[in-house]
Amino acid sequence: MILIIFGPPGAGKGTQAILISENYNMIHISTGNILRSAVKEGTGLGELAKSYMDNGELVPDDVVIGIIKDEIKKSISGNGFLLDGFPRTIPQAEALDRMLNSEQLKVNDVLSIEVTDEEIIKRISGRRVCEKCGAMYHNSFDPSREKGMCDNCGENLYQRDDDKEDVVRTRLQVYREQTEPLKQYYENADLLSEVDGLGTIEEVSDRIEKVLKSMAK
Ligand code: AP5
Repeated sequence: MILIIFGPPGAGKGTQAILISENYNMIHISTGNILRSAVKEGTGLGELAKSYMDNGELVPDDVVIGIIKDEIKKSISGNGFLLDGFPRTIPQAEALDRMLNSEQLKVNDVLSIEVTDEEIIKRISGRRVCEKCGAMYHNSFDPSREKGMCDNCGENLYQRDDDKEDVVRTRLQVYREQTEPLKQYYENADLLSEVDGLGTIEEVSDRIEKVLKSMAK
């Protein structure tokens, strides 16, 4: 199964992608995580990506498409994969179609997580991430047991540079202008499943589960 998890910044794509990949034994491919690791490691890719990410802009299509090509090649023999944060532009979606076609594969469904801007701001402003293992928390909605420390590895939690208010505003604008039109692209391909993203993590997960079960019928 090949799924895309789609939605605005802070909608809960990463949170739900982790749950789906665990439940369905699928590989979770997050372009955001790959780019953040490259920034942390100080690679050439990281240096290039950092300036775009810090400003809330998209990393150029050719760079991200190159990353996804490699990740898909590595993931093809498994139980399927879940794309989180890719595609984000029409050229990225077209490149993905070409990549999959050449392997006689196709996207099975696009789960679009629908949330209000007000909720996005709440989720992003409270998000904290472990600097070592990348585990994600929310100050109010999904707090760690000990404030500021990761439950998994005990390391410090930090706020992402691009979660600062002015950058979030740019990310939302970029989403509306460049990424949201993809909903029509996938609607036209009869692949779009809109999922209400409001409510608790478990409630959203149950709704996604219903969509995935209905696909299996
Ligand atoms: P990326 O990391 O993909 O960021 P994003 O799409 O902006 O999404 P987020 O990671 O902010 O949010 P999310 O939807 O995953 O929500 P989460 O589960 O964390 O990309 C970062 C940057 O990299 C981009 O801006 C761009 O520069 C670059 N990039 C990446 N991919 C690219 C591409 N394809 N092309 C070009 N550039 C690219 O949840 C948010 C918070 O809410 C968490 O604290 C969580 O605990 C909490 N939460 C989740 N669900 C709930 C719930 N139901 N109730 C309450 N709280 C919740």
